[in-house]
Amino acid sequence: MNTGDLSHAEVLPYTPAVAARTADVFERMKRVVPAIEWPIHAPEIDAIRSLKEKRNAIVLAHNYQTPEIFHGVADIVGDSLALARRATETDADVIVLAGVHFMAETAKLVNPEKIVLIPDDDAGCSLASSITGADVRLLRETYPGVPVVTYVNTSAEVKAEADICCTSGNAVKVVESLGVPRVIFIPDAYLANYVARQTDVEIIAWHGRCEVHERFTGAEIEAYRKDFPGLAVIAHPECPPDVLDVADYVGSTAAMADFVRDRKPQRVLMVTECSMSDNVAAQAPDVEFVRPCNLCPHMKRITLTKIRRALETLEPRVELDPATAERARVAVERMLAVA
Ligand code: 13P
Ligand code: SF4
Repeated sequence: MNTGDLSHAEVLPYTPAVAARTADVFERMKRVVPAIEWPIHAPEIDAIRSLKEKRNAIVLAHNYQTPEIFHGVADIVGDSLALARRATETDADVIVLAGVHFMAETAKLVNPEKIVLIPDDDAGCSLASSITGADVRLLRETYPGVPVVTYVNTSAEVKAEADICCTSGNAVKVVESLGVPRVIFIPDAYLANYVARQTDVEIIAWHGRCEVHERFTGAEIEAYRKDFPGLAVIAHPECPPDVLDVADYVGSTAAMADFVRDRKPQRVLMVTECSMSDNVAAQAPDVEFVRPCNLCPHMKRITLTKIRRALETLEPRVELDPATAERARVAVERMLAVA
């Protein structure tokens, strides 16, 4: 079931009681959510909070979710690695994954007995859709005996064909953990290139790309540097090599957030999805954020209203073929054992 069409969804009333119950949340995000939007968000946040209690549910939100989700209703936030890890630790009955489909699948893989909800079934990922299980089987035939490392941005069907998963936060460590001279690394060609630069292990790459990060260019970043003296440039490893060449720091979304929190640059450019800067800026009042705004259309399919609907109806659920899930789980668990 797809809850994508919510054009006739009722608008929840913004009452003084709602305002009072959500005042703490507004305080947390008032630097990044305009006051004029608050009467729309507050009743949804209030409703989601009580539905979470009723369902014994938690919301896991990726760093690219909008601030009203990230700061408003999430119980756990983070990069793909943190979300996968924290999903193994919850005793909630229901997990709502505010992110994209492969993230919800990962949560289901490590929690086969729980209800895992993805508020919009169509929240995909250009990397995940760049490769199929059959493609991986063909790669194995072409390179017999070479292990397959899959970025977590893939379907369960692809993970089931791989030896081990990785995320942007642990890719080099995972590749080196195998103790082999070469690996097949799927599906992100740019992440593969980033890993290859940091290891002696030979990397055989696939040709997938993130449709958000591939749009950044090194020339664009250099132009920002000229316009904003003293700018710290921090980039996600899904960016093209010419962007990474001019970055001061490269890391996963969580590592990028930590960079700002720990080093407190005066001015920063986070070369990644747009909402990330909003979420970090909400808690970094002294840092100036320079923002080229590339949005992930898949992440943006998730809204407060869809999260509320998912909790009301317990749909759409992530369901996986048990045999595929069993094999995919092994690849995820191997990763979690390494890093
Ligand atoms: P992170 O694991 O670094 O959060 O990246 C996930 C993602 O989809 C980046 O585009
Ligand atoms: Fe996929 Fe790129 Fe969106 Fe991340 S930002 S979910 S890699 S399309």
